[in-house]
Parts: sequence; C-alpha cells; structure tokens
Amino acid sequence: MSDLLSLDYFTDPALAQDANEYFDEMRRRNPVYQEPHYGVVAVTGYNEALAVFKNHDAFSACISIGGPFPPLPFEPQGDDIREQIEAHRHLFPIFEHMVTMDPPDHTRSRSLLNKLLTPKRLKENEDFLWQLVDHQLDEFIADGRCEVMSQYAKPFATLAIADLLGIPDEDRAEFRLRLGAGEPGSRVGALDHEPVAANPLEWLDNKFSAYISDRRTHPRDDVLSALASAKYPDDTTPELLDVVHPATFLFAAGQETVTKLLSAQLHFLAEDQDLQARLRNDRGLIGGYIEESLRLESPTKIDFRLTVKTTELGGVRIPAGTVVMICIGAANRDPAKFEDPHAFRPDRRNVREQIAFGRGIHSCAGAPLARVEGRITLERMLDRMKEITIDQDKHGTPDARRFAYEPTFLIRGLTELHIEFTPAR
Ligand code: HEM
Repeated sequence: MSDLLSLDYFTDPALAQDANEYFDEMRRRNPVYQEPHYGVVAVTGYNEALAVFKNHDAFSACISIGGPFPPLPFEPQGDDIREQIEAHRHLFPIFEHMVTMDPPDHTRSRSLLNKLLTPKRLKENEDFLWQLVDHQLDEFIADGRCEVMSQYAKPFATLAIADLLGIPDEDRAEFRLRLGAGEPGSRVGALDHEPVAANPLEWLDNKFSAYISDRRTHPRDDVLSALASAKYPDDTTPELLDVVHPATFLFAAGQETVTKLLSAQLHFLAEDQDLQARLRNDRGLIGGYIEESLRLESPTKIDFRLTVKTTELGGVRIPAGTVVMICIGAANRDPAKFEDPHAFRPDRRNVREQIAFGRGIHSCAGAPLARVEGRITLERMLDRMKEITIDQDKHGTPDARRFAYEPTFLIRGLTELHIEFTPAR
C-alpha cells in the first residue's frame, strides 16, 4: 500500500483513470496528507475539505486552477504571505477571472455575475432548455444509438450558456461550432492538462468585448444590454473587461463540467437496468439521482488553495505558502460522511450534502443551471428512449467493459459514451 502513495498523482496515467483506491489509502493515513512529489497537502476528508473551502482568510484561491503548476512566482517568507500574493497577482494563471480572486476583488466580480443570474433569467433559460433538448435529440433519435458527448452533451452545454448570456440567435451557430463541437482545439473549457499560460478564452473575450461595447453605446432590450449597464454595489461602472470576464468564464466553468455530469448520469442509467426501471417508475427520484451522480463522479476532481497564513488543519501544521489540494471527489467518498461511499444510492439520506460544486464564497455560480441541464436531459431521454443500454461494440461486454476517462488530474469524466436505445413512439 505504501507503494500506492508513492505514485505521482499529477502525472501517473493510471491514477488519472481511477484514483479512488489511492485517495482511500491516503485518507486512511490522514485526511490531511502531504504528498511526496510536490509537497502538496491533499485534503481527502469531507469535514476538512469544508473547512478549507470556508476559510478564505487562511486559504487564497489565487492558484485554484493550476495548483503547483507553474511554481509560485515568489519564495514564501514568514507566517503570513498575503502581501506577497497581492504583489504577484498578475503572475498567476487566469488571475483576471473570479475563480482565482480573493475578497474584495472577488466580491465585486461575483456581484456582476449575480446581476445576470437572476431567478427570472434562470427561468427563461430553463424554458429554452426544454425546447433545446428536443432539438438535440431530434438530430439522432431515429438512429437508435449515439455518442453522448459529441452528439448531445457538448452542443447542449454550449448552447445552454449561450442562451443564458443572451447571445443573439444569428451568432449561436458559430458558438456551437467553435465551442461545442468537441473537435481538438475547440475546448476552451478544459482548464486541465497544463497550466493555463495563455488566455484560453481569447476568442470569447474579443467577442464579448464587441457585444458589451456595442450595448454600452446602443442599449437594447436584451440580456447583453443588462450586463453592459451592470454596476458595482457602490454604483460605480466596471471597466469593459471587468464585465467581459465574468461572462466569458461561464463557458470555461460550465461546459466541460456539465458534459461530464450528463455522461456520468447516463452511464449509471445504461449500466443498471434495475436503476433505470426505478427512475422510469418514479421520476421523483431524479433530484437525488443527479446529486448521487455528482457525488460519485464529481466532475471537478480537485481544486487548489494557497495557504496564506500558517494554519492547523486536522492536526497537521500547514505553513504559509503551502499548496493545498481539496480532493472534492475523494471528500465525496469519505466513509465518515457517506455510508457505503462507493455505492450508487440516489435515495441516501444525506445525498444533497455532496460538495461537487464546492462551498463557501467561490461555490459554483452555475450549480442551478447544471442541475436543470441534468434534470431536463434525464426527463426527456426517459420519455423518448426505451431500454437505454451501453453499446457493446464500442465499450465491450458487461464483464469486460472499456471506458476511457479524461487523462487529467483536474477533471473527472468519460471521453466518449456510446449508448443504444429504442426510440419511443
Ligand atoms: C456539473 C457541473 C459543474 C460542476 C461540477 C462545477 C463545479 C464548480 C466548482 C467545484 C467550483 C468552485 C471552484 C473553487 O472553489 O475554486 C465552481 C465555480 C464556478 N462555477 Fe461551476 N461547476 C459546474 C457547472 C457550472 C456552470 C454550468 C456554470 C455557469 C453557467 C458554472 C460557473 C461557475 C463559476 C462562474 C464559478 C466561479 C465562482 C467563484 O469563483 O465565485 N459552473 N464550479
């Protein structure tokens, strides 16, 4: 077992495919455990993960995406490195996006997003999604088979965000082509593999800069105009790019993650016919079903924080400057929190306490949308497809399945999912 923990989580290809045993062993040693390769402190316990998420005073989000890559742009000095972090902010990957910000900048940036994600906008967006799902399904339903990621999940997730942001109808085909096709090079949303050196959202930033500056000079009655005129809580007007970034980041945060949720849900459904029958008979289970899919296959496997102040967590002293890795997927399988944690049980008592969307001030701004996308997908697929099964030609027989997961340390999810079904009349 000690061999298991000597593996390099960040580069080992087998761990990228399945790290459950590795994290279980680590948690058994200590839910707060320093891995030997980069000195990263891995948090695999549920309560300990919550404690890090909620303590934004002691843990900065400045490295939330890259963790130990690239190395810190400074040598940490002393027990409080807040000033050093602030002096080097502009050197952290995607520092201009809220997910890496700390208060007060984070609070200001998120306030702009909150202006967009109103209950009214989310409701209108949900109405659109009920129509979109049928358009998507119409594209392949008669075939009785599909590859879920490319034919359904990617375009669906892209168009969901395009609608949320009020992208004009005439431009949506371009968004789908650029962002939702799943072709190599079109993935702005991965934020995985390598540190994000260049701005991966450049195309979107340019597009949105044009929209917002147009709406600032020629306001219309649309969502983009509302964004363009949004103000900070102190009534000042944000710089153009300070409005553009919260909008474009939605694609980075909400595309790849949602496709992984949608494929995980369908994977469980197609593998387990009893479960499928239960869900068909009792649609009331769908809410718990989505939470349980998120718990067991948390699309954001891990998240990082930089220790600002020397702190103690789970009896372990964590010096300022230490990279902390919140193992979301592992915390969601902590047996101290979830009984029989590796089993899929949509009706487990505390299923809604899973933390796939994080917690605290950075908790996922798109969680309501992601849940709606999951629910609408399940509802309409159950309505329109009978006997959903795994395509054995592509994934092998039940005793010898072949599934490939994203070869990254950040994102959890299938690269492809081929299913078969009988179209309902
Ligand atoms: C199943 C799908 C999704 C998962 C698992 C997920 C997961 C997460 C997690 C774990 C965080 C916290 C990051 C941190 O604390 O460092 C986060 C933040 C965020 N998510 Fe999601 N997300 C999903 C879908 C979406 C969608 C659909 C959107 C937008 C439409 C979105 C927008 C955001 C934004 C803007 C943030 C940053 C919030 C902040 O820094 O204050 N996410 N997400």
